[in-house]
Amino acid sequence: MDNLETSSAPYKTFRLRKVAGALGAEIMGVDLSQPIDEALKAELRRAFLENLVLVLRGQRMTERQQIDFTSVFGTVEQHPLYRSAMIEGYPDILVLEHKKGQFFNGRNDVWHTDLTFRETPPMLGLLYCRAAEEGSGDTLFSNMHAAYDALSPGLKRFVEPMQAVHSAEFLRARNNQGSYNVPIAEIPEPVVHPVIRTHPETGRKALFVNGAFATNFVGWTREESAPLLKQLVEMANAHQRIYRHRWRPDDVVLWDQRATQHYVAIDYGPDVHRRMHRTTASGDRPF
Ligand code: OGA
Ligand code: MN
Repeated sequence: MDNLETSSAPYKTFRLRKVAGALGAEIMGVDLSQPIDEALKAELRRAFLENLVLVLRGQRMTERQQIDFTSVFGTVEQHPLYRSAMIEGYPDILVLEHKKGQFFNGRNDVWHTDLTFRETPPMLGLLYCRAAEEGSGDTLFSNMHAAYDALSPGLKRFVEPMQAVHSAEFLRARNNQGSYNVPIAEIPEPVVHPVIRTHPETGRKALFVNGAFATNFVGWTREESAPLLKQLVEMANAHQRIYRHRWRPDDVVLWDQRATQHYVAIDYGPDVHRRMHRTTASGDRPF
């Protein structure tokens, strides 16, 4: 096993059950339609840092409550693509939807961390499931602390000083392909991030490259970078580092973008209706 978690202090405001060995916990006994007091907030933040992915099932939240819940963990920010699909009056919520009979929308079937082409990528992503067919379109999460820990001492030393270029060109290519998404004309200048990052709150190291936005290592050509980049990205694939979430309507799932990658299984046909209301909290510059 990669990552034997040491057990943490018990929680007073909810019950918690691990959903996988490497990451992820379900929180039970919390109703997000009710006010969230300070004691609950503190324990939610601790559970988030300890488990990297939190799952709350059967929630009935208004748009306002989803935004307020997200702000327990960080400052809510608009997703840069929010204009492509939004709810009137709530620009902080991005709608990700595959409608019946419509061809696939913005596919996310690649291991990634969101928006790393920015200098300050988000610290948290949250999805509130409004429609799903259980067993299809699962979202997978992989623990990047565990991926770092699994590198040999030699490879760790080798990649430690490296940096990678992250570009939004993947997003532009993806969005400009189909008819669903708003086409992207302009993309920001690429940015440089460390290949190994340190979690700003826990101090743990994590592998920080991804299959969507990292294009090459600094000082290396794309061709030279491709094999090692692929190998590092695919560290996310190891079964023992993954939690696979099977969606049901009313699920809330949030993840720590600083220590995970995620992937959506596009294993569903055109007749599935899958709708997620997505919120985002801003992060710091990776170091
Ligand atoms: C995202 C994403 C996951 C999903 O919201 O960033 O990749 O399950 N979507 O739709
Ligand atoms: Mn994503």
